[in-house]
Amino acid sequence: MLSDIEREFIKIVGRTKVRVPLFNLTLGREEKKAVQETLNSGWLTSGPRCAEFERLIVQKTGAPYAVALSSATAGLHLSLVALDIGRGDEVIVPSYTFAATVSSIIMTGATPVFCDIDSSTLNLDPVKVDKAVTRKTRAIISVDIAGRPCDYRALVRICKKYRLKLVCDAAHSLGASYNKKPIGSFGDATVFSFYATKNVTTGEGGMVVTSRKALAERIRKLSLHGITVPTQKRNKAGSWRYDIIEMGYKSNLSDINAALGVAQTRKLKQFALNRRRAEKRYFGALRNLTDFIDLPALPKDSESSWSLFIIKLKLERLKIGRDRFIEEMKKRGIICGVHFILFYFVAKHVLNKNVVKK
Ligand SMILES: Cc1ncc(COP(=O)(O)O)c(C=O)c1O
Repeated sequence: MLSDIEREFIKIVGRTKVRVPLFNLTLGREEKKAVQETLNSGWLTSGPRCAEFERLIVQKTGAPYAVALSSATAGLHLSLVALDIGRGDEVIVPSYTFAATVSSIIMTGATPVFCDIDSSTLNLDPVKVDKAVTRKTRAIISVDIAGRPCDYRALVRICKKYRLKLVCDAAHSLGASYNKKPIGSFGDATVFSFYATKNVTTGEGGMVVTSRKALAERIRKLSLHGITVPTQKRNKAGSWRYDIIEMGYKSNLSDINAALGVAQTRKLKQFALNRRRAEKRYFGALRNLTDFIDLPALPKDSESSWSLFIIKLKLERLKIGRDRFIEEMKKRGIICGVHFILFYFVAKHVLNKNVVKK
């Protein structure tokens, strides 16, 4: 039996005559042309399209250096490695985030320290961050959840106070800004994702931006086995010579993906407008339902990229649980996701195993 509240809720949502997919891939002629040109160019791996993609993201973010990578996960991992973070170090990370933010820390051998978020912004609570710092803390990873920028003024202050590195997980926040400055201007490294559901996509892909040249160069080397001269440069120079100066990984982006990224990034302004329009429609459609759901808190001194529109169910007021709610929405053409599935216990299990092995 449904309660009166639920009947009322379903009545209101049921009137919504819209199709809202989980994400809406906007690939036009430009993307297809860019990929075709790359296929015809005879160069498929990291090369001129990656360089062009990096230049575009530099323009959009104002950060002087950019390194195109195969994913944001790789970007987070390599940023930490390039900042010399590893075994014995602690990295503060929000307890509410996608698994990759945490696994990137575990991959370095460092220990993630989960810190609580502000329940209205869903971002790290700087007061709690300050309390989580110990003698072992080396870095903070901030996450701009749903594209809403963190409180960077406070986070940068904490980093200065304790001499910590700040790695910004900006998987959701390309195009967002804080205090009129674009995301990409705040941490030692900022990492964007171009996964298929993101505001700008390359299918799979990521990018690190930074104001530190040496850091960018190290990340680039680490993304290609630690090789000093990548294939494109050797090809140009007509020389086979290169060195491998440290153990690296294989996380470079292909030019095919980068071609998509170039075409997509050129449309970033239009994409941002579309998202702002959607956000206003969602607020309009949902504002009478605040007895049952919490709507996102609007940012004060920042612009969100509205990568996600996260609502919180007031389960104590609903007879139906989360899964039924999602089913009911689906019946009405509105596809929802769950952000995020808890990763804490997996992380704990992995870390305990490491301890046992020692
Ligand atoms: C907050 C956050 N960080 C990192 C990632 C990882 O991005 P990628 O799939 O590009 O590795 C995601 C992916 O959705 C994410 O939501």
